Amino acid sequence: MALNKDLVVYQIYPRSFKDSNDDGIGDIKGIISKLNYIKSLGVDVLWLSPVYKSPNDDNGYDISDYKAINPEFGSMKDMEKLISEANLRGIKIIMDLVINHTSDEHEWFQKSVQGDPKYKNYYIWKDKPNNWTSFFGGKAWDKINNQYYLHLFSKKQPDLNWHHPPVMDEIKDVMRFWLDKGIYGFRCDVINIIFKSSLKNGRKRLVLTGREHYHQQEGMHDILKELRRDVLNQYETFTVGETVMVTPKQANDLILPERKELDMIFSFAHMEVDQINNKWFKTKFKPKKLFNCLTKWQEEVYWNANYFENHDQPRSVSRFGDDQTYHDESAKLLATLLFSLRGTPYIFQGQEIGMTNGDFMAMEEFKDVETHRIYELGKTLRIPEKIRFKMMQKTSRDNARTPMQWHQNGGFSTVDPWLKQNENTKFINVLDQDSHAKSILNYYRQLIKLRKKYHVFRDGDFQVLRKTNKIFYFKRANEIHDLYVIINMSKKETIIKELNDGELLITNIEKKYYDHVLSPYEARIYIKEKRND
Ligand code: NOJ
Repeated sequence: MALNKDLVVYQIYPRSFKDSNDDGIGDIKGIISKLNYIKSLGVDVLWLSPVYKSPNDDNGYDISDYKAINPEFGSMKDMEKLISEANLRGIKIIMDLVINHTSDEHEWFQKSVQGDPKYKNYYIWKDKPNNWTSFFGGKAWDKINNQYYLHLFSKKQPDLNWHHPPVMDEIKDVMRFWLDKGIYGFRCDVINIIFKSSLKNGRKRLVLTGREHYHQQEGMHDILKELRRDVLNQYETFTVGETVMVTPKQANDLILPERKELDMIFSFAHMEVDQINNKWFKTKFKPKKLFNCLTKWQEEVYWNANYFENHDQPRSVSRFGDDQTYHDESAKLLATLLFSLRGTPYIFQGQEIGMTNGDFMAMEEFKDVETHRIYELGKTLRIPEKIRFKMMQKTSRDNARTPMQWHQNGGFSTVDPWLKQNENTKFINVLDQDSHAKSILNYYRQLIKLRKKYHVFRDGDFQVLRKTNKIFYFKRANEIHDLYVIINMSKKETIIKELNDGELLITNIEKKYYDHVLSPYEARIYIKEKRND
C-alpha cells in the first residue's frame, strides 16, 4: 500500500488527556468527549499511547495483557466506541505496539518464571548475566529463582525473546486482534532494538553498554518484513517506528517502499542537539545545530516523521523557544517549522496551545519511573542533589505528561490529578484560545488547513536558502508553487538580506511592513505561483 503523505497525526497520552469519572486519571470516555475538539483541529490520525492492561510501572509501556484494556481507562466496549466514533468523524486510530518487552505481570512471563516448557523461552534467561546496562540506568538483568532475565528498561519490563518462533505468532495474533477492531495501524515502540544477535558482553560505555548486540540488527529487519507481509499487508495500515540512535541511512533501510518494512520512523537526532552524551546532560540550545540536523534529515531521508514533542520529551516551547516573554511567538514559530518541513507532522496533546514544562518543586512530585531511577543513579555518581534535581526539572518525561489544560481551572478532572497540574492553566488553556482568533490553537488550525490546501507542503522538495545562528530560510517547491519559509529563532531582531517576493501566506507576528527586519521569533511563509510560460 502506498504511503499516504496527506496525514496529520495527533498524539494522546490517555492518562493526562481527560478524566471522565473523577478519579484523577484520564480515560477513554474522556477522549470520546473531546473528539469534536480533535476534529476541529483538522487532524486525520490519533495515536494513542498504551491503554492496554498494565500494572503501570512505566505508565502502560509495561503490558500485562495485549488484548485487554486497563480498567483505569475503561472497558473494551469503550475502546470499540472510541474507534467507531473517531471513524465517524473521519479520524483513524493507531495504537502503540510494544513488543520489545511485556510486563513481568504478563501471563507469559509468569509461566516462564514457573518453568512452564511452553513459555520458558518466551523471554531471555541466562545463568550468569552479561555486562549490559539498561535504558533507565543500572544493570539490565535481574534474578528470579537462580536465573537472570534481560530487561532493557525497568526490571518490570522483561524483554521478549525474538529468536523463539512462538513469540512471532503471538504478536501477529495481537496485531490482527486490533486491526480487526478497526484500528489503522501502530506506533512501534523501540522497534530497532528488539532482536538480540548475541548475549556477549558489550564494550563499556557511559550509557547502554551492550547495545552493539541488539541495535539495528539484521534480524530486526527480517521481523519487520514478516509482520508486514503476513499481517499489515492484509489491511489498510499505517506504521511509524520509534527507533533509537539511527542515522539517515539506517532510517531509509527501515522505510524505503521497496524494503517493505515501516512507513516512517521517529528519529532522535534533532532531540539530541541540546545535550552532551545523553539527554540528562543538557547544554545551551543553539538553533543552528537544530537547523543543521533537520536539513540533513530533510535531504537524506525518504520521508520523515516530524515531531518536536511527545510523552518522553520536555515541552518544545520551554526547550527550543521562550516560554516567558515570547511564549506566543515562539510556540507559533515552532508550529510553522513543524508544518513546513517535508514529512508527516505529529502534534502532541497540549502542544497546540503552547503547554510548557511542568512546575515540579520536589522529587515526590515526579511520578515517572525513569526520572526516579536516574535521580538515584546520579547519587552513586556523586552528582550533588541540587544539580540532580535541576536535571530532572529540565529533562524529566513528566514535563510532557502534566494534565491537559482545558480551561482556567484545569478542566482535566474534578479531583486532584495523578500528576501535578501546571499553574499556568490560568492563562494557557483551550477554552481561552478557542475563542481567540489569534491564539496558538487557531494558528495550528490555520496551518493544518494550509497544508491541506497546498500540495506543496506535502510533496514539495526541500532546499535551504540560508542558515545562520538564528535564521532558517528554506524553500519548498513543486510544479505549481514555491513556498518560502523564514524563521528567526532568537530573542533578537534580525535582518534578512535576501527575501523573495510572493504572497505572505501566514505569519505569527502582526505588523505594518513585512520587510527585511525580522522581529524576535518571527516566522513567515510566502507562496508564489509558478507561471506556465
Ligand atoms: C519508548 C516509550 O515512548 C517510553 O515511554 C517507554 O518508557 C519505552 N519506550 C519503553 O517501552
